Amino acid sequence: MSILVTGGTGYIGSHTCVELLNAGYDIVVVDNFCNSSPMAADRVREITGKDFKVYRCDIRDRDGLKKIFEEEKIDAAIHFAGLKAVGESCQKPLEYYENNIWGTVALLEVMRDAGCKTIVFSSSATVYGSENKVPFNETMPVGTATNPYGTTKIYIENILQDLYKSDNGWSVSLLRYFNPIGAHPSGRIGENPNGIPNNLMPYIAQIAVGKREKLSIFGDDYPTPDGTGVRDYIHVVDLALGHIKALDRALGKTGVDIYNLGTGIGYSVLDIVKTFIEVNGVDIPYEIGPRRPGDIAECYANADKAAKELGWKAERTLADMCRDTWNWQKNNPNGYEN
Ligand code: NAD
Ligand code: UD1
Repeated sequence: MSILVTGGTGYIGSHTCVELLNAGYDIVVVDNFCNSSPMAADRVREITGKDFKVYRCDIRDRDGLKKIFEEEKIDAAIHFAGLKAVGESCQKPLEYYENNIWGTVALLEVMRDAGCKTIVFSSSATVYGSENKVPFNETMPVGTATNPYGTTKIYIENILQDLYKSDNGWSVSLLRYFNPIGAHPSGRIGENPNGIPNNLMPYIAQIAVGKREKLSIFGDDYPTPDGTGVRDYIHVVDLALGHIKALDRALGKTGVDIYNLGTGIGYSVLDIVKTFIEVNGVDIPYEIGPRRPGDIAECYANADKAAKELGWKAERTLADMCRDTWNWQKNNPNGYEN
């Protein structure tokens, strides 16, 4: 069984490639490397001891994709490729709509023409917006995104639902990720953000390694136990394993299935900082700053549906997430560049 992994050299994609190979799937990776390094694929080969093909191809390039589908026998796609920086999406909305939405449409057209109709898509908890109450569950209405990145996720979910309505031969899985952090325990693959990290964990990791001075905590006056924002942090290896379970199920059926991939537990910014310090024995200086526009107080999953239907539950603890992040960061202070 051969799986096309778009964005397979990125953060979540590379971890999922490891678990796909471990589970006995063959994989074909497509990436344009706009936010990743081909070295991530070498590290996946090293971890798994298995080989696979990597195509440098933009998913908006229909002819390029078509050739890949002609050369490879592909049974399903896991679609990670996309731009993901919230702040940047507000500066460059057209680039985000063009890349994420048209890229997905191009991929779907090529898949349809090749008769490959199983797709697992990387959606986000951001689709719940600020209108719903935590814990978020899959029956809640999709909310309003506060930024173009989030809007692309909502549009793509709609496109995939429409596609299934038009042709019941499709099998669509919409996986709504909460906050993926951590790295493979080998320390060989991990998150490698460009420039100043926007997200909490990579920022903390860069302080620990001496690249940044101090964390600014974005507000301590939220209606949460300690006043700082609460999120559902999930170990990227657990998230990757969730994809295997979703794929196993998707291959044997048609329809649209939506799953939250989270732990169901909310941790505050201070919980993360304190655990990182405790587990790794490093210092993380911080100060309380103003709230970040667009942030919500709490975001965590009801993860029951994935447990019930996929038999999947996140198992790694916050301590595991902090330890594995630091193991990756300290061994690869410049990501894949050293
Ligand atoms: P990432 O940037 O590390 O990986 C995305 C990959 O897609 C990169 O390797 C990039 O080079 C590639 N890519 C982008 N546009 C492409 C194109 N047009 N053609 C070919 N390749 C292209 O991001 P990630 O954190 O691994 O996220 C993977 C997916 O999960 C994304 O769709 C993202 O929006 C979604 N997601 C991520 C998070 C998160 O917190 N990391 C949360 C929710 C959803
Ligand atoms: C961000 C995205 C969201 C995306 C999610 C998962 C924004 C506005 N939202 O959300 O769309 O789905 O990542 O990728 O970027 N924090 C600090 N200081 C920092 C960084 C973060 O205090 O330097 C706080 C935030 O206020 C928040 C928590 O840490 O309470 C987590 O932040 P972050 O890692 O950016 O994730 P999200 O806010 O969930």
